[in-house]
Amino acid sequence: MSTRLTLRHALTAIGAAAALSAALVGASPAATAAAPAATAVAAPDIPVANVKAHLSQLQSIATANSGNRAHGRPGYKASLDYVKGKLDAAGYTTTIQQFTSSGATGYNLIADWPGGDANHVVMSGAHLDSVTAGPGINDNGSGTAGTLEVALAVSRAGLQPTKHLRFGWFGAEELGMIGSKYYVNNLPSTERSKIDAYLNFDMIGSPNPGYFVYDDNAALEKVFKDFFATKGIPTEIETEGDGRSDHAPFKSAGVPVGGLFSGADYTKTAAQAQKWGGTAGQAFDACYHRSCDTSANINDTALDNGSDSIAYAIWNLSTGTTTPPTGTVFENTADVTIPDAGAAVTSSVTVSGIAGNAPSALQVGVNIVHTYRGDLVIDLVAPDGSTYRLKNSSGSDSADNVIATYTANASSEVANGVWKLKVQDVASADTGYINSWKLTF
Ligand code: TRP
Ligand code: ZN
Ligand code: CA
Repeated sequence: MSTRLTLRHALTAIGAAAALSAALVGASPAATAAAPAATAVAAPDIPVANVKAHLSQLQSIATANSGNRAHGRPGYKASLDYVKGKLDAAGYTTTIQQFTSSGATGYNLIADWPGGDANHVVMSGAHLDSVTAGPGINDNGSGTAGTLEVALAVSRAGLQPTKHLRFGWFGAEELGMIGSKYYVNNLPSTERSKIDAYLNFDMIGSPNPGYFVYDDNAALEKVFKDFFATKGIPTEIETEGDGRSDHAPFKSAGVPVGGLFSGADYTKTAAQAQKWGGTAGQAFDACYHRSCDTSANINDTALDNGSDSIAYAIWNLSTGTTTPPTGTVFENTADVTIPDAGAAVTSSVTVSGIAGNAPSALQVGVNIVHTYRGDLVIDLVAPDGSTYRLKNSSGSDSADNVIATYTANASSEVANGVWKLKVQDVASADTGYINSWKLTF
């Protein structure tokens, strides 16, 4: 019986010829092979003048359409046509998705940047509608324009990200996130599971601004905190109505979410004015949902920093600079006897040196020697004890052995820690053993 634990580093990204290999003997393998230096492409500084130019167009659209850009009103569709025109000209593949709400047709605009790994999507979005009371320039022309200008910067840079980039502008958020719910609900679950991250930008130019980072996912929270740390700007966790925007339906569907928010109708405290400037005792946005949410209702510095943070997050999350290269294998080749019609047995693998969470398509390689594999129920157990069913028993599957690679959506699990393969034989007469199993990060 072997008691080795082996760890291999197959740096598939740079090809088999250059692959490194390291075998460690012992119980706690560590990822010791140096990762190849990721060729980080620095995120660009987004010109705030360009973002403001989009805001002035949105203001003109509202002015020409009864003063708003609300769902079901002509100012909404005109806003959508403006954004779509810019994206089409920049080489995006755009799609308009129609839905009905409160007796009016609503529209989402989805834009895909061609290329990247379609199984790993980084999506960023903003709601495009205003309330009926006003033009909605901070809420949410700011998120709309910042996201649009970053999408255009992707095109200008000719960015070829490792992951696939998608952008979304949602309708009818102000009626209860109708457009984003419609988008998420109409995505097949296989497509949903390919979205590694959804980043939301709803109000990023508040006139008396704060810098609030969503804390829904640790890795996505970190990328924004890292950006603001480089600028020497303190951040706080977003708490002003958690889940009050388009990230909520994504989060409910299991997609990791993040984002930035500069504050709405809550009051800035003295401590917040101390760290961010502005006026204590006043709302972050005193014109929130009012007719005065015009192009004058914007703090240019907040808009500039917020837009730059969108670029930073997208560049870093999509070009593989914050995630290790793929292909680190953690394997346990120790044999574990599976008792006939007995209790479950486990075999452990210790994962270390992997930043952040496990992948959404974690590869679980299983090699079990058995005389009737239908007897076997197989689960993957994450470090925190969560289980993922890999295989059910079957009275009719009389074949020998389980030699298979399963995929588990483990994106909500921290990668590092002790993972277990749990195997139970639920029917009598046939027996076998776990020969080896492995996880590929
Ligand atoms: N979604 C709200 C709106 O459009 C604004 C808002 C309030 C918000 N609290 C938030 C957005 C927290 C993001 C995060 O009216
Ligand atoms: Zn909003
Ligand atoms: Ca059996």
